[in-house]
Amino acid sequence: MVFICSLGNELIWNFLSMDQIHAIYNGNFDNLEDIKVSPLSRAYTFSDSVYEVIPFFNNEVIAFNRHIERLQYSCRSMNIDANIDKSSKEILQLISLSKIKDGYVYYQISRGVDPIRSHMYSSKLHAETFGYVTSHKFEEQTLKVALCEDIRWQRCDIKSTSLLGNVLSMNEAKDQACDEVIMYKENKITEGGASNVFFIKNNRIFTPSLSSNILPGITRELLISEAAKHEVKIMEQDCSLDDLVKAESVWLTSSTKGLAPVSEIVNQNLNLDVSHPLFRKCQNIFKDAYFKE
Ligand code: PDD
Repeated sequence: MVFICSLGNELIWNFLSMDQIHAIYNGNFDNLEDIKVSPLSRAYTFSDSVYEVIPFFNNEVIAFNRHIERLQYSCRSMNIDANIDKSSKEILQLISLSKIKDGYVYYQISRGVDPIRSHMYSSKLHAETFGYVTSHKFEEQTLKVALCEDIRWQRCDIKSTSLLGNVLSMNEAKDQACDEVIMYKENKITEGGASNVFFIKNNRIFTPSLSSNILPGITRELLISEAAKHEVKIMEQDCSLDDLVKAESVWLTSSTKGLAPVSEIVNQNLNLDVSHPLFRKCQNIFKDAYFKE
């Protein structure tokens, strides 16, 4: 956890007087709606960008270093030449300037603005950065989910803004009044549309092991290590659809959802327990570690 320090200068007063959404583009703080971006930004033409969603609660940033490390990993994997130290400072500044107690920062780094659209990028590009901070209520949400085939590319370990597979699947699920999806590839569970998956079967907790088909979720990682400290073992292994549909309890994890229990999986006749004692134990362990009032 990182404590947010306060800063002071003229720029900050301008920032504080702005309405609602506080943002930064290429190092300049601005009102979100005043930021202008070139249509030749590779984020716009190719989704050639990576991002992070960094939560903070009670003025403390949760797992800040882990988010920064993952941002660095995403940039390296895409050969995006970014100044991660500068980005780290900007993220902390956004939070402290906003005076918001509970919320998150969205921060993205694109490869830059091309002179002309071309798949093969110019070697002279400068990374383009954009972030904003917003308030968020970290309350337990109960989710209805749909199962769907994972139609995404094979580098889902990179936190890229190219999320069309997720967007398509999640909006199909929305038509069935669902809040989320659980995706599978060749009968193996991968992850949620914007989350990682956990379930309890025969009183044991499982989550799919990491691979290039899964984003290494930070909430996932925090939960596994906090649970281990309390002698609650979480099995990381290949999980089949058959395992999932025999589950007693299912939940999804993310930086904005925390641990969100699933009450229903559409078209599956499951009796899911959103108050399963093992799930409640995990929820309490996680809240005690990161979301203590
Ligand atoms: N998404 N898997 C996917 C595909 C995700 O988009 C996310 C989070 C996660 C969970 O990762 P973490 O615990 O580090 O938040 C897993 C964010 C919140 C988003 O895109 O809004």
